[in-house]
Amino acid sequence: MQTKRRIAGKKGSGNWLRPPIWGLPSSVVKIPAPLSAAASYCHLRGLALEAAGGQIREMSDVMIETVDLHRSYRIGSKSIEVLHGVDLGIRRGERVFLCGPSGAGKTTLLYTLAGLERPERGLVRIDGVDLYALGRQEQARFRNRKIGYVFQNFHLLPELTALENVAVPGAISGVDSTEAAMKALERVGLGERADHLPAELSGGEQQRVAIARAIVNEPKVLFADEPTGNLDSINSGQIMTMLLELAIEHSMTLVVVTHDAALAELGDRRLVIRDGAIH
Ligand SMILES: Nc1ncnc2c1ncn2[C@@H]1O[C@H](COP(=O)(O)OP(=O)(O)O)[C@@H](O)[C@H]1O
Ligand SMILES: [Mg+2]
Repeated sequence: MQTKRRIAGKKGSGNWLRPPIWGLPSSVVKIPAPLSAAASYCHLRGLALEAAGGQIREMSDVMIETVDLHRSYRIGSKSIEVLHGVDLGIRRGERVFLCGPSGAGKTTLLYTLAGLERPERGLVRIDGVDLYALGRQEQARFRNRKIGYVFQNFHLLPELTALENVAVPGAISGVDSTEAAMKALERVGLGERADHLPAELSGGEQQRVAIARAIVNEPKVLFADEPTGNLDSINSGQIMTMLLELAIEHSMTLVVVTHDAALAELGDRRLVIRDGAIH
């Protein structure tokens, strides 16, 4: 998939820091003390090793795992190493925010985790499956079924209605998902706008259509790359709250890139990417 990669992000104002998510029971919205990425990784490796000893249930707690991920880009004669041996472990159902300065490699990492950009070295396992060991078609099927992706600038097809856009992942897998698409649109509050073209929707509404499309196949993992980067603070708050609520409702593992440090506190854990590594 060709995607325009350089998008100027706009920082949210952070005004909406008491979003409705806090209205959920505290047993649902748990924010454990942040673990360092390294400590968490060691912990998850520990669980995996224990699993090898017979405790299979614990092994399944790891939803996203990377081992020694490397990715670099060549510009002319110069090579920039963007991911420099990233080791990462994210638990099933965990809601993680990924932060870091512009150009640090957040999009590159997200693309790599989602199967959209092959690393030069290293492993990505999603739900125990080595993503880049799959054949092309198998990988596309796996992505379609298990992974949802929300892009910063929506990536809706301009000639299709909101409903048709949301039905695209179903169509790709050969299923008529009109009913599921309508349900997803209703869930994001756009049931009334099903027949509208993207150009007839506001930025916040377009992003909600993009979220509906990302969840229509009920993925286990949802990635969102600066989903509020092009939105004002009210819409940013609504979108971020919606993503967190959806993750809880559908028991999805959520990884969201944001520039906004305050926003990042809303997740279970905050990861920072700098100098090609997770801190
Ligand atoms: N297709 C590409 N070709 C060359 N360089 C790229 C490409 N994509 C990204 N880069 C470079 O890789 C670095 C990380 O980019 P990116 O992952 O988009 O950063 P972020 O999302 O953190 O802003 C930047 O220096 C960027 O210029
Ligand atoms: Mg980016």
